[in-house]
Amino acid sequence: MNNHLSAINYSELELIFCLKILKLNSLHYGYWRPGDEINITNLKKAQERYVRNLVKFIPRGIKDVLDVGCGVGDNAAALAKKGYRVIGLTPDKHQYKILKSINRENISFELKKFENFITVEKFDCILMSESSNYFDMDIGLKKSKDLLKENGYLLVANMFRMTESKEFSGTHVESEWAKCAEKYGFKVIQREDITQNVLPTLVFGEKIYQEYLVPIEEIIDGYFKKSSLIRAKIIEFIFAKDVKRLFSVRDYLFERLNSRLFNEKAKYLIYLLQLPQQVDGSLG
Ligand SMILES: C[S@@+](CC[C@H](N)C(=O)[O-])C[C@H]1O[C@@H](n2cnc3c(N)ncnc32)[C@H](O)[C@@H]1O
Repeated sequence: MNNHLSAINYSELELIFCLKILKLNSLHYGYWRPGDEINITNLKKAQERYVRNLVKFIPRGIKDVLDVGCGVGDNAAALAKKGYRVIGLTPDKHQYKILKSINRENISFELKKFENFITVEKFDCILMSESSNYFDMDIGLKKSKDLLKENGYLLVANMFRMTESKEFSGTHVESEWAKCAEKYGFKVIQREDITQNVLPTLVFGEKIYQEYLVPIEEIIDGYFKKSSLIRAKIIEFIFAKDVKRLFSVRDYLFERLNSRLFNEKAKYLIYLLQLPQQVDGSLG
């Protein structure tokens, strides 16, 4: 997500829209099967399938997982159900409120940014599901290296840009990120491209955008055009900041939900990385 959007509390809007309006249980794109009809029921199923697919990437022998940017906790809960001990992190107080309702012995959540998370504990595996783009890649990868045990794993599922571009600037460029991971000693164990399984969510989002947001925008616009000049100016003055915010959310969503642009400029990848036994102590 772009930094300016975090300042306007995009996250709260996202939660309201996804959980309250669409009644989803999750914040990730999901994993669609070829030919699935694009509708809300299948989006929910795709999100559940995504979790099941993600869990399959966790290598054997893993006991504990640090879920960085755990959202509303559905990945963490699925992992805990499988018997892993899970710690979930989110810096978002609205998400944290929801997380408090997940009660399991082997799961706990902390209201923290990954960059500020301090512990003497080391983990077998760190999971970043659609969260690795929220912090500087160098900081995130170094921190992961420091928090993992020898031979520890980093499992990342996210959208990556293929080259430097102004579009999707809030996501990392794959080649730069992979180079940075290598610098900290990570080896690529698996790389899976699931772009085509993710794209229907964008198509669904575009549809919602056209059906709901565009008419709302037209109503607001029409209201201003019909209002007397002075009244429109007063309203514009009072709500200028909010209107600006709404437009920046609209522009962000417009780009984020553009499936053609996504297909052209980005890929949705699952990376499983591993630290070797001997990590060069001189790094970082
Ligand atoms: C798109 S959501 C993904 C949530 C969840 N992992 C999933 O797969 O549904 C991104 C998550 O990253 C979190 N996040 C944002 N900045 C972060 C940071 N600096 N450190 C840790 N998590 C962060 C957000 O609060 C949110 O929980």
